[in-house]
Amino acid sequence: MPVDMPVQDVVEQARRGLASVEHVPGSAKPDALLVADGVRRSFGGVNAVDVEHLEVQRHVITALIGPNGAGKTTFFNLMTGFDKPDAGRWVFDGRTLGGVSASRVAKAGMVRTFQLTKALARMTVLENMRLGAREQPGENLFAALVKPLWAPREREITDKAMQLLERFKLDTKKDDFAGSLSGGQRKLLEMARALMSDPQLVMLDEPMAGVNPALTQSLLGHITDLRDSGTTVLFVEHDMHMVRHISDWVVVMAQGQVVAEGPPADVMADQAVIDAYLGAHHDTDLGDDALLDEGGAIDAEAEAEADAEIEEKP
Ligand SMILES: Nc1ncnc2c1ncn2[C@@H]1O[C@H](COP(=O)(O)OP(=O)(O)O)[C@@H](O)[C@H]1O
Ligand SMILES: [Mg+2]
Repeated sequence: MPVDMPVQDVVEQARRGLASVEHVPGSAKPDALLVADGVRRSFGGVNAVDVEHLEVQRHVITALIGPNGAGKTTFFNLMTGFDKPDAGRWVFDGRTLGGVSASRVAKAGMVRTFQLTKALARMTVLENMRLGAREQPGENLFAALVKPLWAPREREITDKAMQLLERFKLDTKKDDFAGSLSGGQRKLLEMARALMSDPQLVMLDEPMAGVNPALTQSLLGHITDLRDSGTTVLFVEHDMHMVRHISDWVVVMAQGQVVAEGPPADVMADQAVIDAYLGAHHDTDLGDDALLDEGGAIDAEAEAEADAEIEEKP
């Protein structure tokens, strides 16, 4: 593809390219950014991940769906170097990344979002952002001793963090403890932090979980903006409305395996998907909003938090 092609044409071409892709597990993509082969991970005899072959198309939004325990999070952890597989290999942008550390995977351009842990909650919003930067000054002991070498890089990281915080409307919160943010703002911070390393592929694990429906629209907008600015997105989401609304392609996992793939409308009418999601309830119509209640449940605490956030707004 020509380097000087405008990004919207590149994205359009990538999305159109999916039209020729077979709707079968492991189907070949015209321009695969990530290709996984024979990736297996078991925990105490349970096959958490057993992916024979999976290709993720570059420049589109791919949703990864499946019931709880299907292995979606474990798959993300394996691909991004946070967990080690028992077997398998994967190639990202032409580079074999199996066995490579998480920081090297991030440098290669593939990152996953992380929930705000207790430790991160005690840091400020800006400090959280700085942690997401590709190269931390001070990583290299020699450079750390020579302040003039790293001071400009420090400023660069802070500038970039502030730009992203503005984009996600968190700039006024930069000095607040991350733990003081509302549910929706935390999700925005998780996304913003992942972007500090300029990833080619960003993996979002349940980016909408626990967020009040009133705030999901802006999260959705940020996800489509990512794609439209040239970032490839792979995201896990239970809310089928969201999946149908923003994904270009859907991959379904169940019991560690990829059981279906295709465009959203097609996949949601697939018997294997219905079986994977609903077990015995075969009569439920997936073409409808049947799945919404299952994953869309928002716990009372998160809901109250989101409500408070809305009330704060003038
Ligand atoms: N660190 C772990 N130790 C033991 N079992 C785990 C661990 N992580 C995941 N599992 C198991 O692996 C399976 C897949 O889990 P997970 O990847 O979290 O699924 P999903 O994200 O699709 O809900 C589940 O059976 C889960 O209990
Ligand atoms: Mg999970």
